[in-house]
Amino acid sequence: MSKIGIFFGSSSGVTRSAAELLKAQLEGAELIDMEEDYDGIEQFEDFDVLLIGSSTWGQGDPQRDWVDPLYELDNERPDLSGKKVAFFGAGDQKTHGEHFLSALGKMHDIFVSLGADPYGYASTQSYDYSFSLAQRGEKFCGLGIDDVNQEELTKERLIGWASQLKDEMQL
Ligand SMILES: Cc1cc2nc3c(=O)[nH]c(=O)nc-3n(C[C@H](O)[C@H](O)[C@H](O)COP(=O)(O)O)c2cc1C
Repeated sequence: MSKIGIFFGSSSGVTRSAAELLKAQLEGAELIDMEEDYDGIEQFEDFDVLLIGSSTWGQGDPQRDWVDPLYELDNERPDLSGKKVAFFGAGDQKTHGEHFLSALGKMHDIFVSLGADPYGYASTQSYDYSFSLAQRGEKFCGLGIDDVNQEELTKERLIGWASQLKDEMQL
């Protein structure tokens, strides 16, 4: 059975709730809160499947608990080839529509540059924003949730995405 690690950073709890819901959908998955549980980049090597969660802040930046780990990954460049990775996180398409979910795009590019295989691309269709570094063609490079403007869609988005991951990653 694949070992699944859900690594998340969340300031006001939205991405945390998403991580908890994903854990409930994916048997045996382990939660790693980047503030409380993260010890170092070797921790990514313990898992076959990495679910990477972050809200977006500032000008399209990852949540603060990701800043040091992403810097270390980019500098130390561990080999993550053979690992499956997928990205999720919260944003606000209305007030921050000029950088909606951009943290997911930045994190995606780092993990993929280290050899991990990306999964879980999701449609951009039910969102309304002007720009996102997470957009790749017609899709986001992960799942976005927006509890500020579309809270009613969050649960079904997450359940649908967990099911997509199970199919794509053969979990
Ligand atoms: C100062 C500030 C800056 C923000 N910048 C962005 C942004 O660039 N892009 C975006 O999609 N959301 C942005 N947001 C919205 C947050 O990502 C959103 O509130 C999210 O739900 C927080 O999730 P968390 O509780 O998991 O940290 C910003 C919010 C604040 C207060």
